[in-house]
Amino acid sequence: SSPIQQLPRQTSKQRFVADLSQCLFDFVIQLLPTQEEMAVKEDVRKLLERLIRTIEPDSRLLSFGSTANGFSLRNSDMDLCCLIDSEDKLSAADLVTMLGDLLERETKFHVKTLPHARIPIVKLTLDPSPGLPHGIACDIGFENRLALENTRLLMSYAMIDPTRVRTLVLFLKVWSKRRKINSPYKGTLSSYGYVLLVIYFLVHVKNPPVLPNLQQMPPLRPITKEETHLNGYNIWFFDDIDLLRQRWVSENTDSVAELLIDFFRYYARDFQYNTGVASIRGGLLKKDTKGWQNDFTGGRYDPSRERNRLCIEDPFETDYNVARCVTKDGLYTIRGEFMRAARVLSTRPDRAIVALAELCE
Ligand code: GTP
Ligand code: MG
Repeated sequence: SSPIQQLPRQTSKQRFVADLSQCLFDFVIQLLPTQEEMAVKEDVRKLLERLIRTIEPDSRLLSFGSTANGFSLRNSDMDLCCLIDSEDKLSAADLVTMLGDLLERETKFHVKTLPHARIPIVKLTLDPSPGLPHGIACDIGFENRLALENTRLLMSYAMIDPTRVRTLVLFLKVWSKRRKINSPYKGTLSSYGYVLLVIYFLVHVKNPPVLPNLQQMPPLRPITKEETHLNGYNIWFFDDIDLLRQRWVSENTDSVAELLIDFFRYYARDFQYNTGVASIRGGLLKKDTKGWQNDFTGGRYDPSRERNRLCIEDPFETDYNVARCVTKDGLYTIRGEFMRAARVLSTRPDRAIVALAELCE
């Protein structure tokens, strides 16, 4: 018999999975921001930094969130953080108010200020124009150093295995937006929450793991507490990614499609929503040991105080549940969507592209 006949034939499952991986890459690539969009955003950042320096000369304006962590989609919002290096500086509330007035006078942005929020911010939007068909939306926060650090952590995870991690995360961001389960204000989960669910899955659920646990690796040299702590939180993680890419090779060879199928199955069926806390630092933790049980005892049950239906520990602020905005209904919807996605992928329609279209319908 000819050599070709001796090759094992691909099963229909193998064919579907290979197809789906290719479709996922193709799908995600066309949703990445263009060079032009990134250049415009960098120009906006510089302009805003110049204006802020007329009020606080020692300030810097830095990008965080998706524009800085490698998980950016076309037309995504800009998250900016203002750091002030001088000793005697304005209070964040005063700065927000003054900056708001200045930007209103000097630029075409629509400005809204929230000087008294937990983290005071200035919200800016720019109307669409021919060169910028989707306009720009931008939040400027102040002294939010932990957000800069968690951005760096997510970016480091993205860089360890860019193809698989970025494709998965970007796809899930699009999927969760299209399925309308990406709005903390409406009781579902932020993009940041979904990214943490993906990393948790790749570090702690997959066996062998796709990613190492950067927060638990031994440091290359002894480090002091001052170096590792910010606002009382341990922000250390192994961040020499060049070295890591030489030394750490995952034994996990699953394709992106296999990982996606497993991801949906895990969160549809296996994750213990009632008792579990997903922690990228510590693995699967228990709600009761963290004191994150919803309190149904003692007096009236108040659903507006319900904060711990879904529990995702912040990588640094470990007393902070990133999914605290997720309501009972929100979680029901999210789980329903995980189940629907798992079902669509398990039926394996003839062509992977059909499955993808149906997933994001
Ligand atoms: P898109 O805006 O949807 O493209 O996603 P994104 O990656 O920018 O995520 P998101 O807007 O949800 O969050 C932006 C950044 O804000 C994150 O990278 C975090 O640094 C920070 N952040 C968002 N939500 C939280 C939160 O609940 N807790 C903390 N500590 N930081 C958060
Ligand atoms: Mg954002």
